[in-house]
Amino acid sequence: MSGTRADSLVKRPTALTKAHDVSQFDCGKQTLSDWLKKYALQSDQSGHTKTMVIAQEQRVIGYYSFAVVSVEHEDNTSPRVKKGLARYSIPIFLLARLAIDVNYQNQQLGRRLVKHALKRAALLAVRDIPIRAVVVDAIDDEAKRYYSNFDFEPWPVDGMRMWLLMKDLIKTLNAAQQTKAARKGRKPAR
Ligand SMILES: CC(C)(COP(=O)(O)OP(=O)(O)OC[C@H]1O[C@@H](n2cnc3c(N)ncnc32)[C@H](O)[C@@H]1OP(=O)(O)O)[C@@H](O)C(=O)NCCC(=O)NCCS
Repeated sequence: MSGTRADSLVKRPTALTKAHDVSQFDCGKQTLSDWLKKYALQSDQSGHTKTMVIAQEQRVIGYYSFAVVSVEHEDNTSPRVKKGLARYSIPIFLLARLAIDVNYQNQQLGRRLVKHALKRAALLAVRDIPIRAVVVDAIDDEAKRYYSNFDFEPWPVDGMRMWLLMKDLIKTLNAAQQTKAARKGRKPAR
């Protein structure tokens, strides 16, 4: 794919602010590009979502937005997600949108954003915010394939929704941290 190198100028994700320039953002999927340009800031300000961006200078080249919401116990909830729970609404971390500008795709920036979102979700959960699972709404089948790389599994009824149980995510992140610590030749932090 063509594109501009995402060099070291791309810093870690930060919260979207009105100082960011979103006017040129194009990820190739109009609904996702338009959402960033027209609605993201407003949605964040109203407390509905939170949008994290990566930018070069102030120009946004990738984003994800999330919300902590709940899903109903019945109907379309995955059996593993609702196993052992009373029949109340189930709190989830919804990774609602993810997109990288076409000029910067296939440089692991999407991966970086997904990992950032997953760590953020896990951090909330270990800080005692009840979150049963991380859920993504894939925009199409390609996106579903992309998310399956991160261990998301399809939601049984709604074909575009995928989930990752929080306890599985925390286990994976802990294992990764221990491997990293072992490589560095020291004991993992507790
Ligand atoms: C999907 C998307 C976020 C991936 O981000 P990215 O930075 O381009 O991808 P990464 O560099 O992290 O990952 C690249 C890998 O994912 C694969 N990949 C990239 N886009 C993909 C897609 N749409 N579907 C499936 N796989 C995809 C690449 O083939 C590559 O695989 P490889 O590492 O085995 O070569 C980005 O392509 C994008 O914004 N697409 C348009 C919007 C979209 O579809 N969003 C999906 C969420 S709703």
